[in-house]
Amino acid sequence: MVSIRYLGRKGILTAFLRSISTLPEDQRPAAGKNANILKTKLEKAIAQARSFMAANSMNQNMGIDVTLPGRRRGYGSTHPVTRVLDEICGIFMRLGFDIVEGPEVETDYYNFEALNIPKYHPARDMQDTFYVSDNIVLRTHTSPSQPRTMEKTDPPVRIVSAGKVFRCDSDLTHTPMFHQIEGLMVDENISFGDLKGVLTTFVHQFFDEHTALRFRPSYFPFTEPSAEVDIRCVMCKGTGCRVCSKTGWLEVLGSGMVHPAVFENVGYDTGKYTGFAFGVGIERMAMLKYGIDDIRKYFENDMRFLGQF
Ligand code: DAH
Repeated sequence: MVSIRYLGRKGILTAFLRSISTLPEDQRPAAGKNANILKTKLEKAIAQARSFMAANSMNQNMGIDVTLPGRRRGYGSTHPVTRVLDEICGIFMRLGFDIVEGPEVETDYYNFEALNIPKYHPARDMQDTFYVSDNIVLRTHTSPSQPRTMEKTDPPVRIVSAGKVFRCDSDLTHTPMFHQIEGLMVDENISFGDLKGVLTTFVHQFFDEHTALRFRPSYFPFTEPSAEVDIRCVMCKGTGCRVCSKTGWLEVLGSGMVHPAVFENVGYDTGKYTGFAFGVGIERMAMLKYGIDDIRKYFENDMRFLGQF
């Protein structure tokens, strides 16, 4: 503050006034006089400034108290689902995968038939589908991006496709809309070893490089063989807890070698090309990474929850 700096007990002008007595006697009157003129001027200026501020701070015309501290504006932040989605896409982009997009309202053909799931096939029960009409569905997974991409491109193919998917399901770990990332790699000589290598790299980059994982035989109509990937439980580190149902392992994604029937549907030479595919649930990955126990929290838009990311 100006008044303290110049006129306070240790102020510059105060110090000068005190030092006058040490000046040679003939200089003291002039010094004293000038210093006092300065002091009066300063006091007047400060008083003026004070009354100006007081008048303006309470100025009814403005209706604003300019002396109040400013109100902090809330900053926006990236939604945790978007954040994890971007992070996963980033990992695969660095591995040389391209990003493609597909429609959320999908034909029965791409969502099921092209993926070797004919009508009335029991595998349709794996997914509780929202039907728009007989042949139009809300896509139940991002896998339709596989036939859609392969129809348009010849191998080599290396893509990931992320977005919303829909299933008629709702509880602690399921919401009617959630997000997946699909991956597909097709070329000559692609083996299960490539699948393991890429997915191991992905898990290590997303969680950490010491995360143990296992490939467990499974079934999907569009892959053969199929494998689900489990990671060592991130909560208990494998000793067994509520989150991993005492198994020590957590399922994180589905994968497998692309079924020849899928290649035939898109006109790929099954004698020449092989490939692998995988599907990852984004909310689930985010739940494991951030220790979130209820998937519905993502979509309730409670700022106290979202603001933490
Ligand atoms: N589409 C499957 C699902 O939503 C996940 C999946 C499994 C995708 C295996 C794949 C795959 O590409 O190879 O349950």
